[in-house]
Amino acid sequence: MLDPGNRLKMAAAMVRPGSRVADVGTDHAYLPVYLILNGTIPSALACDLRQGPLCNAEKTVAAYGLEAKVTLRLSDGFDRIDPSEAEDFVLCGMGGTLMAKLLARAPWLQDPSKRLILQPQSHEEDVRGWLLENGFSILREDACTDDGKLYACMAAEYTGVRVPCSPAAPYIGALAQCGKPEALQKLKKTRDRLRLKAAHCPPAEEAAFAAILKELEATIDALSDRS
Ligand SMILES: C[S@@+](CC[C@H](N)C(=O)[O-])C[C@H]1O[C@@H](n2cnc3c(N)ncnc32)[C@H](O)[C@@H]1O
Repeated sequence: MLDPGNRLKMAAAMVRPGSRVADVGTDHAYLPVYLILNGTIPSALACDLRQGPLCNAEKTVAAYGLEAKVTLRLSDGFDRIDPSEAEDFVLCGMGGTLMAKLLARAPWLQDPSKRLILQPQSHEEDVRGWLLENGFSILREDACTDDGKLYACMAAEYTGVRVPCSPAAPYIGALAQCGKPEALQKLKKTRDRLRLKAAHCPPAEEAAFAAILKELEATIDALSDRS
């Protein structure tokens, strides 16, 4: 059985059983192959921007004899995916800024029947910020370590409701509700990164950073008290 590692298993656990999955930026296609092998999903689209990663995907798919169930496709983001081809859309291992740009280019994702599973490699706040500003609800978040590194992953759905949120919301998301020590560690890492940015920001941005850090610290303190 393929073991895709903790990070991709965390994302796989957010996929709805029985859904068809489009894995955008699939590279080796470990996630869709793992989901099909363990019986979670019937089929998948494995998409990537480049031919090289798609060749990696082709090798994995062939190694497990899943050619009839995994469609390989060259696609820049969602550009060559038809909305009718999948219900769950996974983006893992890309930067959060790129993820937000790709999501913005696919307005058909604003459909409550679609599920987004997003595991940004960096700048998580860009993805959460985009989701919250564009009427998506972050249903849940999880965090884990894989090979000594900390990762967060979120599941989101379109509701059309733009709930007013605090400036710190994109930095915290639903991690506070996760209940795992890794979520607290992830929030602390975000705080440390923000402190560094705040220390070097122009004077005009100091107050905004201070407000975000204050809320982030309060969340961290509350979670630390509980653990
Ligand atoms: C670091 S790999 C992540 C692979 C896998 N999703 C994972 O998490 O292990 C990022 C992949 O995203 C692909 N990628 C980057 N920009 C993309 C875009 N605009 N559209 C589709 N794929 C893209 C890259 O070619 C690469 O294969």
